Amino acid sequence: MMQPDQVVTELPVTGWTGPFGPQIVQTAVSALEAGRVIVLPALAFAAEPAELSVLSADLLSGRRKNISLDRATGKIGGAAAVPAPLEALMRRFAFQADSLARGLLAPYGAALRAGRTSFRPAEIAGRSYSPRKDDRRLHIDAFPTRPLHGDRILRLFANIAPDGKARAWRVGEPFASLAARFLPSLPTPTAARARLYAMLGLTKGVRSGYDQLMLALHDTMKLDEAYQSRAPALPWSFPAGTTWMVFTDQVPHAAMAGHFALEQTFYLPVSAMASPETAPLRVLERLTGRVLA
Ligand SMILES: [Fe+2]
Repeated sequence: MMQPDQVVTELPVTGWTGPFGPQIVQTAVSALEAGRVIVLPALAFAAEPAELSVLSADLLSGRRKNISLDRATGKIGGAAAVPAPLEALMRRFAFQADSLARGLLAPYGAALRAGRTSFRPAEIAGRSYSPRKDDRRLHIDAFPTRPLHGDRILRLFANIAPDGKARAWRVGEPFASLAARFLPSLPTPTAARARLYAMLGLTKGVRSGYDQLMLALHDTMKLDEAYQSRAPALPWSFPAGTTWMVFTDQVPHAAMAGHFALEQTFYLPVSAMASPETAPLRVLERLTGRVLA
């Protein structure tokens, strides 16, 4: 059984803007890199009444799980129509998430790059998904179309559920034990297939050996029924009005229930980490004895 202090570190942050003291910054960086979820129980993202009034899972188009904001182009995807208050809410969240991450994780400096912003209005419990897309199964994040070559995926979440419903997760075992468990059953990366996928336009650039292993790990662990029912994991609930951050490429997680979460993705090169040896890239390289990116 996992213990709470292996899984989460709570920090008494009360504002989205730094500067933050050196001690809290150091605690934040070392907890994240050690594979813990940083929980900020006293930090709520405030939605305005006009914004709250338009929040609805009905905004999603088709079977989409998220409404996403591409900060580079300013385009919003995943919604049939985007009411102005929702757009305002997502842009303000993107700005505040950026400010918080840059302050609390100041040592990463400009190496920390902001990716997409997403709004996840739909209730997770009771929906049906294909097993590979079912994020209620323990998984690590790996992106099928965007090769990362070892870059880290850091995600910041805020629960803004107007009805006060908590977001319920399960948080799994350390990455090194996960990787050691599954590596023998993962296919060996092949450069030929990676080049073919890039040529066919299925990926934005060529997948490294790292990307191939991480995608295989994501799928294999999700589809392993015995692992899903018996894996070491700790249930953790994030109350409405709280914020949390985690390296989702490293920490096995499953989102079991909840609705109305906001999420901001960041990318970080391994070279910018305080303890690069904890990166999934370095762990997989140690275990395989190969250079993977
Ligand atoms: Fe995930």
